[in-house]
Amino acid sequence: MSFKRTPIKELLKTTPTNQEVVVMGWVRTFRNNQFIALNDGSTIKTVQVVVDFENTDPALLKRITTGAAIKATGTLIESQGKGQTVEVKASEIHIFGDSDPEKYPLQPKKHSLEFLRENAHLRFRTNTFSAIFRIRHAVAFAIHAFFNDQDFCYMHSPIITGSDAEGAGEMFQVSVLPLNDIPKTEDGEVDFKKDFFNKATNLTVSGQLEAELAALALGKVYTFGPTFRAENSNTTRHLAEFWMIEPEVAFADLTDNMDLAEDMLKYVIKYCLDNCADDLEFLENRLIQEDKSKPTAERAEMSLTDKLTFCMDNDFERVTYTEAFNILRNCKPNKKKKFQYVLDEWGADLQSEHERFLVEKHFKKPVILTDYPKDIKAFYMRQNDDGTTVAAMDILFPGIGEIIGGSQREERLDRLTQRMEEMDIPTDEMSWFMDTRRFGTCPHAGYGLGFERLVLFITGMSNIRDVIPFPRFPGSAEF
Ligand code: 4AD
Ligand code: MG
Repeated sequence: MSFKRTPIKELLKTTPTNQEVVVMGWVRTFRNNQFIALNDGSTIKTVQVVVDFENTDPALLKRITTGAAIKATGTLIESQGKGQTVEVKASEIHIFGDSDPEKYPLQPKKHSLEFLRENAHLRFRTNTFSAIFRIRHAVAFAIHAFFNDQDFCYMHSPIITGSDAEGAGEMFQVSVLPLNDIPKTEDGEVDFKKDFFNKATNLTVSGQLEAELAALALGKVYTFGPTFRAENSNTTRHLAEFWMIEPEVAFADLTDNMDLAEDMLKYVIKYCLDNCADDLEFLENRLIQEDKSKPTAERAEMSLTDKLTFCMDNDFERVTYTEAFNILRNCKPNKKKKFQYVLDEWGADLQSEHERFLVEKHFKKPVILTDYPKDIKAFYMRQNDDGTTVAAMDILFPGIGEIIGGSQREERLDRLTQRMEEMDIPTDEMSWFMDTRRFGTCPHAGYGLGFERLVLFITGMSNIRDVIPFPRFPGSAEF
């Protein structure tokens, strides 16, 4: 059998002249023993296949059920019905795979996101998730296109590593030592010399340090790969396994870094608006329906595409931590102790409730916060002359909070060594990192974009577990 077929996306744009066509896909619905709504994943739309039921074997008709994989051969004609321009008048139906309607978990009705999360192996077949995952692809593609256009080099950072790039200790260990009989040294410590790599290793939390090594030779690089955090954060914004994009640029400062990040986000949003219109329209309508069941105060102020267009067309607000802290300390919810974490002393880390207040209530647009207190940021950030802050930047998005974290890097060997010692980071184990500062160091900067947080923003979904095919979070690593 030939598998030559026309993708439904193409078919729907074709002028019908009674030409013979072949389509393959999965049945969404079958009405009146006559009308098949067929989807093949190339678009959110279905094509209507009309079956000549009077001249079709009733046994075959019975097998055309929701979820079944079929091939339809027929002629492409102008549609008789409403809602579509063309349809396929079938002359032959072949069933590749039956789908028992009694047992198939996806019924032709609306399922809850919770139900679909439990059935993540099948949720690709729904309109919502097929739209999300096509957009996820478009976002990834646009990111590569953006950096490629600007002559960045895509760098693959290691997944297994011996370092903790963020110094936060939230790592998944990688070991082949038998858990029930761990070899010990004379001091009673785990003897990692007997382990696969002869040392302790973990899954990477960030590719930044390796990206810095490459940037100080290749000039402009970015990583795009999976990263892992064993933080016990059971929230709608955190995953234990997520994808991160980390550009790193030599001869650049914090302003260059902010400009690059803002340009990149706008480019990706524009790419999706230009290339994912059908999927975005579907998700936008989904949100409008969802909002109808919410109290007015909780409804979205802007539609999904308006929100995306707004982010694309407006400059992000750039403010220092100190300015933001003063706004927050004096704001109503802080004074009335409405925040879960009331802000009082300069230097406190901002929680997601504070970030969202700044973005959604105060500035009402994306915000770039800069120059954070050094004690709440990582060791590698460049120390400012005031002695208390570092050249850090976080980008905060409406509905999301932090979407990007980055900084200008500490390129001065003495300052870096001193900071690492203060923060108990072993400088001897990291001598490879220090070498960049020993030999031909230069000002450089970079950031990390949480890929799923960007997909979350663009799709308008509210739970990060719904924008990655198989989410990993505390207590769950299904599929
Ligand atoms: O702010 P983070 O921890 O920064 C870094 O890892 C730096 N090394 C980046 C750099 O400068 N090259 O993480 C960067 C971004 C966050 O802003 C957030 O969007 C995302 O990664 N992120 C997560 N996304 C999903 N689940 C989690 N558990 C995440 N942790 C961070
Ligand atoms: Mg961060």
